[in-house]
Parts: sequence; structure tokens; C-alpha cells
Amino acid sequence: MHTKLRLLLLIFIIGFACSSNHDSDDPTPQKEDNKDSSGEVTFSEHIQPILSTHCVNCHGNSGGISLSNYSGVKAVVDNGRLLKAIKHEDGVSPMPKDQNKLSDEKIELIESWVNTGAPNN
Ligand code: HEC
Repeated sequence: MHTKLRLLLLIFIIGFACSSNHDSDDPTPQKEDNKDSSGEVTFSEHIQPILSTHCVNCHGNSGGISLSNYSGVKAVVDNGRLLKAIKHEDGVSPMPKDQNKLSDEKIELIESWVNTGAPNN
């Protein structure tokens, strides 16, 4: 084959490959971080690790408020104090006590879990 023709053919193939690449770009938006593929926030995967890191030192199994197990956490969800405490709202002691407020991301995770009924999942 003539060299010039080969070159033309090559350019044509490259052009075609590039344009078809664009067609296959995935238009679906990126899923949010920290959530599993179903978008569900779970106690075991999301909530418990946050509480273990920031709360369980002071709220272990002994004493009034235990945040090391589901039933203890559920109790403060049900009396409304968990969200108020981590959001530093009036009427409850701000938590974690004497430490920085949790990140917005962590508060949002806990809040959305509470809003779905605080399931033991
Ligand atoms: C340094 C110790 C410490 C840490 C860390 C801590 N707490 Fe507390 N928490 C306390 C103490 C002590 C109280 C009792 C009230 C007070 O003294 O302010 C309390 C009370 C609470 C209450 C009841 C508040 C009220 O006014 O009724 C909730 C809910 C609570 N903590 C949740 C949490 C959560 C959630 C975390 C983690 C994000 C956390 N705590 C981290 C020490 C701690």
C-alpha cells in the first residue's frame, strides 16, 4: 500500500478510536464517599467505628451511658440526646466532652442513620 494512504488510514483509525472513547464516558455521577453501594448507612460499618474512636473511652460498658453496644446507643437515640450532644445543641452536654466537635461528615452519617430509624444493621 502507498505510504501516504497508510498514514491517512492510521489517522482515520486514531480519530475513530478517540471519538468512540468519548461516547463511552460514564455519565453517572460519583457515588458519595463513606456509604456502601446501596447508599445505606449502617450501625456496624459507619456508626460504631465513629463512637469507638470518639466516645467509648468515656462511655464504655460501665456507668450511665454506654456507647459500646447497640442497645446503649439506641437508648440515647430514643431520648434525643445523642444528636443534640454531637451537634452541640442547647439542653445537653456537648460531646465529645472537652474535645473538638465531630467533623460535619461524621455528624451527617450519624444523623442520617438516626433518621432512618437507627436500625441495628
Ligand atoms: C472525655 C470523656 C467523654 C467523651 C470523650 C464523651 N463523653 Fe459523653 N459524657 C461524658 C460525661 C462525663 C457525661 C455526663 C454529663 C457531663 O458531665 O457533661 C456525658 C454525657 C453524655 C450524654 C448525655 C448528655 C446529656 O446532657 O444528657 C450523651 C448523649 C453523650 N455523653 C454522648 C457522647 C458521644 C456521642 C460521644 C462521642 C462523640 C461522647 N459522649 C464522648 C464524658 C464523655
